[in-house]
Amino acid sequence: MLGIDLSGKRALVAGVADDGGFGFAIAKALAEAGATVCLGTWPPALGIFRTLLERGKLDASLVMPDGGKLAFERIYPLDADFDVDQDLPAELRENRRYREQGDVSVQGLADRLRADFGETPLDIVVHSLANGPEVKKPLLETSRKGYLAAVGVSAYSFASMVARLGPLVRPGGSFLALTYMASERVIPGYGGGMSSAKAALESDTRTLAYEAGRKWGHRVNVISAGPWASRAASAIGFIDTMIQYCQENSPLPEPISAREVGTTAAFLASPLGGGITGTTIYVDKGYHSMGMAISHR
Ligand SMILES: NC(=O)c1ccc[n+]([C@@H]2O[C@H](COP(=O)([O-])OP(=O)(O)OC[C@H]3O[C@@H](n4cnc5c(N)ncnc54)[C@H](O)[C@@H]3O)[C@@H](O)[C@H]2O)c1
Repeated sequence: MLGIDLSGKRALVAGVADDGGFGFAIAKALAEAGATVCLGTWPPALGIFRTLLERGKLDASLVMPDGGKLAFERIYPLDADFDVDQDLPAELRENRRYREQGDVSVQGLADRLRADFGETPLDIVVHSLANGPEVKKPLLETSRKGYLAAVGVSAYSFASMVARLGPLVRPGGSFLALTYMASERVIPGYGGGMSSAKAALESDTRTLAYEAGRKWGHRVNVISAGPWASRAASAIGFIDTMIQYCQENSPLPEPISAREVGTTAAFLASPLGGGITGTTIYVDKGYHSMGMAISHR
C-alpha cells in the first residue's frame, strides 16, 4: 500500500507557539508519518508555550492516532528576524524574554542543531511564521520601516533558513513555507506590506528551489493556504469574514482545516513528493481558481 513514511527522518518546524496554527498541524502530521520533530519558537511566546505543554493544557491536541502523545524532541528559541547573534539590538538582548535564551538567531538555531545531533541532523524544514507590525494598515499608509519589517520576518527569514540550514539537511531534503493568495490577488485588509512579503516568499521559493536543488539536492516548496483562524490570523481582525467568504465561493464550499495543510506538508516532505520543487501548492478548497464571487451573483 502506498503510504507516507517519514520514519527515521527529523523535522524542524519553525513558528509553533500553541496548538492552533498551521505549524502545529504540520508538526503533528509529520510525527504521525513517523518523523521526529523539533520546533523553533519565537522567544516572546516561548515561556507561555512551555507552560501550556508542562501543565497539560495541550494534551488533547497532542494525542496521536495510536493513542500515544506527541512529544517534541527539542524546542529551540528562534527569532527569525535575525541571521546571526550580533544582529540583535541591545535592548532586545536585555529583554527578559530573550536574555536567558542564548543565541536566538537563525545561525544560532543551526549551531544548536549541529551541537545536539551532529553535522547533518535534518531532513525536513518548515517555515510557518510571519509578522507584519503594520498589517492592519493599507499599503498606502504603511511606513517603509513597517513594510521592510514584514518582508524581513516573513520572507527573507525563509531565504536565511534555507541558506543556513541547507548544509545540515541530508541529501533529498525538503523545505516548505506557508503563503497566502494576497501575494497575487488583492485582499483588502491584508496590509502593512504583508501581501508584498508573501509575493517575495513565493518568488524566492522558485529561486531557492533552483539554487538549493543544484547545491544540495533539496526541494523547496510553498503551500498557499486558505484562511484559518490561527492566533496570527485572528490578530488581523476579519478572519471570520474571510473564512465565511471563501466557504461561500469556493468549488468545495467548506472551510479548510489545519490538518489538510499538515497532511499536504507531510506528502510534500515525503519521497512521494520527490518530483515537486519550486511550486506553490494551494490548500484552499479551490478558491484560487475562481474568477467571480458566487455569493454576489
Ligand atoms: N491563518 C491563515 O489564514 C493563513 C493563511 C495562509 C497562510 N498563512 C501563513 O501560515 C503561517 C503560519 O501562520 P498561522 O496562521 O498558522 O499562525 P500562528 O500564529 O500559528 O503562527 C505564526 C507564528 O509565527 C511566529 N513568529 C512571529 N514572528 C516571529 C519571529 N520573528 N521569529 C520566529 N517566529 C515568529 C509566532 O510566534 C507564531 O508562532 C504564516 O506564514 C502565515 O502567514 C496563514
